[in-house]
Amino acid sequence: MTEQDFTPKSYTSNVESGSVKWESPSNIALVKYWGKRESQIPENPSISFTLSNCKTITEVTYTKKEGTDFSFDVIFEGEKNAAFKPKIQTFFERVEGYLPFLRDYHFKIETSNTFPHSSGIASSASGMSALALCLMSIEEQLTKNVIQSESEEFQNFNSDFFNKKASFIARLGSGSACRSIEGELVVWGETKSISDSSDLFGVMFTENIHSNFQNYQDAILLVDKGEKQVSSSVGHKLMYGHPFASKRFEQAHENLAELKEVLTNGNQKRFIEIVESEALTLHAMMMTSMPYFILMKPNTLKIINKIWEFRQSTGSNICFTLDAGANVHVLFPEDEQKKVYEFIKSELVAYCQNGHYICDTVGKGAKKLA
Ligand code: PMV
Repeated sequence: MTEQDFTPKSYTSNVESGSVKWESPSNIALVKYWGKRESQIPENPSISFTLSNCKTITEVTYTKKEGTDFSFDVIFEGEKNAAFKPKIQTFFERVEGYLPFLRDYHFKIETSNTFPHSSGIASSASGMSALALCLMSIEEQLTKNVIQSESEEFQNFNSDFFNKKASFIARLGSGSACRSIEGELVVWGETKSISDSSDLFGVMFTENIHSNFQNYQDAILLVDKGEKQVSSSVGHKLMYGHPFASKRFEQAHENLAELKEVLTNGNQKRFIEIVESEALTLHAMMMTSMPYFILMKPNTLKIINKIWEFRQSTGSNICFTLDAGANVHVLFPEDEQKKVYEFIKSELVAYCQNGHYICDTVGKGAKKLA
């Protein structure tokens, strides 16, 4: 598929108003996306577990308006929020060619997260995917009406097309958001080992996932709840002219190809090695860019060492991964839930800010609520 497949014919709809509502989860990458080209095209492929408890719930109410400017209000957790407006304005500008109704309506965007605000958890993946899904549902409502009233041949809104275009639109808001529409595992970025993979949208990992990796658990340890030290758009730019960039991009293709085998053959040892190495490589890229950053905190390292000791002494299959920040995602199989949560409570909570952590598990993707 190409960008053109997502460009509808221009249309005028006589729908005056309506509303739609979606919830969409966050995701955690196992092979990391870090580095992009123009229009949010990733420099390398990535794969993530879709989460289920950390999600954004968004309702968009639309009303026909005069004039050609974009018009929208954002209400975040019950209060009007001006801080999100520039990001959404830029997003609308980027996607209007694919959603031609954006200038015809006023949008009231009411949104909230299930995870605490300023927990240091990036809400862009869940937030942008929820908004993209709402806009897709609006397009579906508007074009259904056009088809009925003018019996015009229009785009086919089957669920496969709907999800692909939702992922495509979400990507233009925040790259990793394109991996939140479906679950349990989603690949984004063209790579030889995944036949239908694309740079334009995420695709579900359709191989048989070994029972060792089903219902995987993710305990998110909140080490630092502050604002991110480096925004991801600044972070991705650090890969331009980075001395190790091309080798890193190559490595991501190799790790994804091997992880595909591991996820189907159940090899937990290699899973742990690939996932932890990916997390540390992401941080190594930031430490070796110019300017350079250390995004881990002393407690991040303490937690990592504790996880290694626990794995060594108990034979557990626990491992960690990191996003572009100090928080630690502790990954483990479902059948180790009891012992790992005991370990977290007795040994790791002390390193979390205010003792906070979030228990999550792998999920199946976004849900339409209304
Ligand atoms: O989607 P962005 O632009 O916020 O980038 C996110 C990148 C990482 O979270 C660090 C890795 C990933 O693949 O999710």
